[in-house]
Amino acid sequence: MQLISKSPLKGVIEVPADKSISHRSIMFGALAHGTTTIKNFLRGEDCFNTMHAFQALGVEMQDDGEVITIQGKGIEGLEAANHALDVGNSGTTIRLMMGMLNTCPFQTILYGDDSLSLRPMNRVMLPLQKMGAKITGNQETEFPPITIAGSSNLQSMTYEMPVASAQVKSAILFAALQAQGTTTIIEKEASRNHTEEMIRQFGGEIHQNGKEIKLTGPQKLTGQAITVPGDISSAAFFLAAGAVVPESQITLTNVGINPTRTGILKVLEQMGAQVRLDNIDEKNQAADIQIETSKLKGIVIGGDIIPTLIDELPVIALLATQAEGTTIIKDAEELKVKETNRIDATCEQLNKLGANIEATADGLIIHGPTALHGGAVSSLGDHRIGMMLQVAALLTKEVVTLEKPEAIAISYPRFFEDVEHLTAR
Ligand code: S3P
Repeated sequence: MQLISKSPLKGVIEVPADKSISHRSIMFGALAHGTTTIKNFLRGEDCFNTMHAFQALGVEMQDDGEVITIQGKGIEGLEAANHALDVGNSGTTIRLMMGMLNTCPFQTILYGDDSLSLRPMNRVMLPLQKMGAKITGNQETEFPPITIAGSSNLQSMTYEMPVASAQVKSAILFAALQAQGTTTIIEKEASRNHTEEMIRQFGGEIHQNGKEIKLTGPQKLTGQAITVPGDISSAAFFLAAGAVVPESQITLTNVGINPTRTGILKVLEQMGAQVRLDNIDEKNQAADIQIETSKLKGIVIGGDIIPTLIDELPVIALLATQAEGTTIIKDAEELKVKETNRIDATCEQLNKLGANIEATADGLIIHGPTALHGGAVSSLGDHRIGMMLQVAALLTKEVVTLEKPEAIAISYPRFFEDVEHLTAR
């Protein structure tokens, strides 16, 4: 498809609901006892895959288009699915479900699309096996399809995480909720804490001391009323566009600002962007964010900030193409095992449009500023690469065509409508 080209962005949009919290709302609703209601659920493909997987496991859900209502019967209320569960492109769905289904008295098979079939699962499988889970990948590999044998008695453990990953941490926490005794997780770096927050919200108990997390199982959770805030990872594309496209000034409303997710705001500030938070709602961790065209400078991004902006790094690389000087992104080797290898994808696709980016073993070096030009690029089936490239297209008058734009519906089905809305004169 032909992308929307050079145009200032003006106006206000509400970005879609947070993907991480939407997945977990369905999962906690299904595992809890009693009714859970979810307002502002993300109606994107990944989250529908989570919803359909739990429906296939016998969880009753009604969706009136506004509110999703779940009748949770606890983990013991889940029933065997009569088919293998297709979770599409969603790493969060497969990895968190791997932690959840081991004590069920039935086998479950989880599989997904070509991208998911190449994503590493040992990071989840090995710690779960240590707890007593009987869980295997396809033909003695770590890759999906994943078979969870079920009927496992889980034991607590102490686990020092070799990667900074909220998906791994969350899978272990879901298992720990069903295990006997106290599980201790020591994080490599603090990653998004939505699972921990929702355990508390659903009436569970979990303790945190720095990078150490302790949970004593088994625990029983109770259904809750959830309202999902907007996704800062979706907002990031417009924050970047607002900062770099000339003569722009936009406001994004109701954006989630959980501190484990706001690395992008720190980076924008350090690069010199004019960004402002209004209407801060501390209780719901949400705010309106205003941004306008700014003069940016290159910075170094690495260390413990990386997990707080991991999904934003492709669009941060784009920001850096417009900044004065060199930007170095390091300690981000996790980017290689996302929906695509995002180090290579970002570098190759943006360089086709005239950027000057080098891929390194653990990140990217971006030399700016560069004037981007037209060309033919591809999302490579990765929603965040696709959206980043549409933001790049807003920087040139020439034609940019995007292959595989449909991937964007994974997390942001209304994305192009929102770009059109903000660029309409
Ligand atoms: C997610 C965690 C991150 C992130 C993904 C969503 C989550 O993955 O990239 O988009 O909801 O827990 P990792 O935990 O593998 O870093």
